[in-house]
Amino acid sequence: MSTVDRVGVVGTGQMGVGFAEVCARAGVDVVVAGSSHDSAARGRKRLEQSLERLVLKGKLAAEDSAAALARVTWSADLRDLADRQFVLEAVPEKLATKLVVFGVLDQVVADRDAVLASNTSSLPIMKLGRATGDPGRVVGVHFFNPVQVMPLVEVIASLGTSPGTVERTRAFLADVLGKQVIAATDRAGFVVNSLLVPYLLSAVRMLESGVASAEDIDRGMTAGCGHPMGPLTLIDLIGLDTIAAVGEAMYEETKEPLHAPPALLLRLVEGGYLGRKSGRGFHVYE
Ligand code: 3HC
Repeated sequence: MSTVDRVGVVGTGQMGVGFAEVCARAGVDVVVAGSSHDSAARGRKRLEQSLERLVLKGKLAAEDSAAALARVTWSADLRDLADRQFVLEAVPEKLATKLVVFGVLDQVVADRDAVLASNTSSLPIMKLGRATGDPGRVVGVHFFNPVQVMPLVEVIASLGTSPGTVERTRAFLADVLGKQVIAATDRAGFVVNSLLVPYLLSAVRMLESGVASAEDIDRGMTAGCGHPMGPLTLIDLIGLDTIAAVGEAMYEETKEPLHAPPALLLRLVEGGYLGRKSGRGFHVYE
């Protein structure tokens, strides 16, 4: 049984806040650290809106929403994570940024049995572990978007991760958060993105080469194959910048051409068209 009841989160984007919501609704005390007071305020707003939506849909009682919100503390200082038993790093998919975060977490999080987890989609857990004095406490914990809805989590042990860290992580995710856990080895893309990313990038190449419109490519996979959303809509949900970064990291490791982000994706990211979060990606959102 898990003994984790104090969780920390680094990052106030959709993954970090989604994880904070799942923890808070499971009764766990959460501290979320953003990169600034503004980012912490944006994270709080994101959580409020998500809980509000559930209350409006009649899926969450107003008092349970208020209780969940009260379990979350917002900060702009990683030192506020000192007493946490499990910390999830969910900052943007940039190796240099993540290395700095892990270096600081290792200094700050006092309990040497506390787990330092990364939500990276594609970067080596070994590299993140080596940014700390103890790679044994570092593990990959890869959630799926929206975190509140998708049952799956991939748990990735590096060659240095200790068995105790893996077991504490698995117990917390499965017994406290009710997630389905699969184990993956420390290879770029793990299980799901190794299958998903070539498919998503193939849809972008198909659009780029004029085979079909974005609407028809998406409809092909929803109406033809029963997927809940088409590949371009799914990239819009995940974030074009995230998919480009994941593809780049996977390509760097595998040199597999299907992992290389196509020019159209890169141009859209450079243009600030990041998907739902920016109001436009392959589709336009009001
Ligand atoms: N928070 C809480 N609940 C949410 C939510 C959110 N952000 N978004 C959707 N939901 C809930 C809704 O309340 C609804 O629940 P109900 O049926 O009990 O009322 C249910 O999920 C379905 O939502 P909607 O009716 O609003 O919309 P859809 O039926 O279109 O479903 C979806 C939305 C769940 C996102 C569905 O389209 C889906 O499953 N899409 C595929 C998502 C996917 O593939 N995710 C994996 C991405 S890969 C990834 O993240 C890894 C990364 O490394 C790349």
